[in-house]
Amino acid sequence: MQVYLDNGATTKLDESVLEEMRPCFDIKYGNASSLHKFGREARSAIDKSRKVIADSINAEPDEIIFTSGGTESNNLALKGIAFANKHRGDHIIISKIEHDCVLNASRWLSKNGFNVTMLDVDKYGIVDPQALKKAITNRTILVSIMHANNEIGTVLPIEEYGSICREKNVLFHTDACQSYTKIPIDVKSMNIDLMTLNAHKIHGPKGVGCLFIRKGIKITPIAHGGGHEFNLRSGTENVPGIVGFAKASALHKKQDIQKMTELRDYLIKRLLKIPETQLNGHPEKRLCNNASISFHFIEGESLLMHLDMQGIAVSTGSACSSHSLEPSHVLLAIGLKHEIAHGTIRFTLSKYTTKQEIDYTISKVNEIVNKLREISPLKKGMKYTKEYKDEHHHSHDEETGHHPVF
Ligand SMILES: Cc1ncc(COP(=O)(O)O)c(C=O)c1O
Repeated sequence: MQVYLDNGATTKLDESVLEEMRPCFDIKYGNASSLHKFGREARSAIDKSRKVIADSINAEPDEIIFTSGGTESNNLALKGIAFANKHRGDHIIISKIEHDCVLNASRWLSKNGFNVTMLDVDKYGIVDPQALKKAITNRTILVSIMHANNEIGTVLPIEEYGSICREKNVLFHTDACQSYTKIPIDVKSMNIDLMTLNAHKIHGPKGVGCLFIRKGIKITPIAHGGGHEFNLRSGTENVPGIVGFAKASALHKKQDIQKMTELRDYLIKRLLKIPETQLNGHPEKRLCNNASISFHFIEGESLLMHLDMQGIAVSTGSACSSHSLEPSHVLLAIGLKHEIAHGTIRFTLSKYTTKQEIDYTISKVNEIVNKLREISPLKKGMKYTKEYKDEHHHSHDEETGHHPVF
């Protein structure tokens, strides 16, 4: 059996998306800047797609800038706003659990004349709105806090951050790559000034996304060229990608969200029956498709490899880069000890995931965890004592040792 439970990393292209994209490769393949029929067709396809994406977040079409995806949009948001607002201030606020592209763009900015504050999160991965309020100074130009975290699945209260920023006259950017189409987003009512989206997390193609920029906001482009995308992102438009992105954005259904939520809860409940396991992220305020579980006394990578041999694809929440054995910054930010962070696996479902696949996964995880624990050097000399529990569980049900909600 092949079970793909790594939809947080990327998703399968929906067949109807592929159908929509296909003519853009070999029939309507014009350059959208060309004046002839081929060019006009491409332009019209982009315009239509822009409207679809804009409508889905209650924005205007000319507030959508197509890019190559989440990484580029986040870089454009942070660097573009920083450079366009140098005269107003030099302070940027982000959270400690942002995606690497936000963290590294911020690091780069901090080496280039800007000051970056990284806000702490609580044990669930939530930034305290009061802490954000306190961190804003008269030098602050931008706050960037993600909507939902890609590793632990926690959904953050962006509407609260948005209203604080609006009140303080500071721009608010959010990375919504993981939440888009799973949680309704209204950029107007949520006071969002800039927002990053991408297509490959929603059954669209890889290498395409957008940045929403509220009308009137000045931003400096990071790629200079022929002036495409309202002079903000030069480069011949990826017409098939853009068309596929719009098609994918319109596909989501309430029933799919409901189905993923039920299967996610079923998976979490069964996995937490394995002794010495814990759920990471918020028990309720979480993505409908995310289950992040730490298996004590186990190396996440071993579990991943054994699951892979059984045809099950998951990811670890621990090693964030092949060059580093450091645990994930997100797991450390929510307070996990290194050894617990290293035993973390992220299961991410999609609308295609079936109960049969989840049952198969539960049974294989049980089998492999038991086998690995029998030979685990970590387990030797370590007893599952009350002190151990107190040290490693943020909150737990005394009777079962499991998270109270599940
Ligand atoms: C929250 C988040 N932001 C940004 C990205 C990067 O997006 P992309 O792969 O489109 O560059 C991802 C996915 O990898 C993500 O999960």
